[in-house]
Amino acid sequence: MSHRILLLGAPGAGKGTQSKRLAAEYGIDHVTTGDALRANKEMETEYGTPKSFMDAGELVPDPVVNEIVQAALDDADGFVLDGYPRNLDQAEYLSSITDLDAVIFLDVDEDVLVDRLTGRRMDPETGDIYHVEFNWPDDEAVQERLVQREDDEEDTVRDRLEVYRENTEPVIEHFRDRGDLVEIDGEAAPDEVFDRIADVVEG
Ligand code: AP5
Repeated sequence: MSHRILLLGAPGAGKGTQSKRLAAEYGIDHVTTGDALRANKEMETEYGTPKSFMDAGELVPDPVVNEIVQAALDDADGFVLDGYPRNLDQAEYLSSITDLDAVIFLDVDEDVLVDRLTGRRMDPETGDIYHVEFNWPDDEAVQERLVQREDDEEDTVRDRLEVYRENTEPVIEHFRDRGDLVEIDGEAAPDEVFDRIADVVEG
């Protein structure tokens, strides 16, 4: 059975970490606007490049992002959607193009988010996500090639969290009001978070 899963949460809540595992477990696509935009950072659009918004921690304009999501969902037989919708207009657009089987919110405190984001490192070859304190690879070759995302510097992290509070928290409220939202403690260990999400998806 294919699944249509929406994973919501603040920057650093663990959406990317869990989405990768969900995609592998259920054989579904990981649709993430963040990765899609990073891969097309220099693309010229009528609003400027995605890079100009992302490096400031701001949202990329809705028309650019909506188009990316629609194309990805059209091609997917089951998906976990990560990083979208980020404001109420995107939420409305999403409901016009697909139904969802599970809407999950990873709940994590702001202090924890800042530590997670500033300590995050990415493997540019595999896309795997690590952390200098919570999840460091044993393999020295992997350790050496890890990089920090440009928007994970502390000042930009604070800006991203502000943008989240203003624009994306209303999206969480929207799904909560509809009675669709399942809240999961995102501060538990990654395996535990995964098991709880799987219970919801299979339940
Ligand atoms: P995007 O790439 O979507 O970033 P984000 O939503 O800010 O989320 P992150 O990727 O930072 O966090 P995550 O929740 O995936 O956490 P992770 O699993 O890595 O967006 C980037 C930018 O693109 C935006 O600022 C915006 O400009 C633009 N953009 C994207 N989508 C857009 C949209 N729809 N509209 C407009 N603009 C858009 O985990 C974080 C760290 O914690 C890792 O180091 C990990 O190892 C660690 N960790 C994870 N889980 C645990 C755990 N349970 N315990 C301990 N450590 C953990």
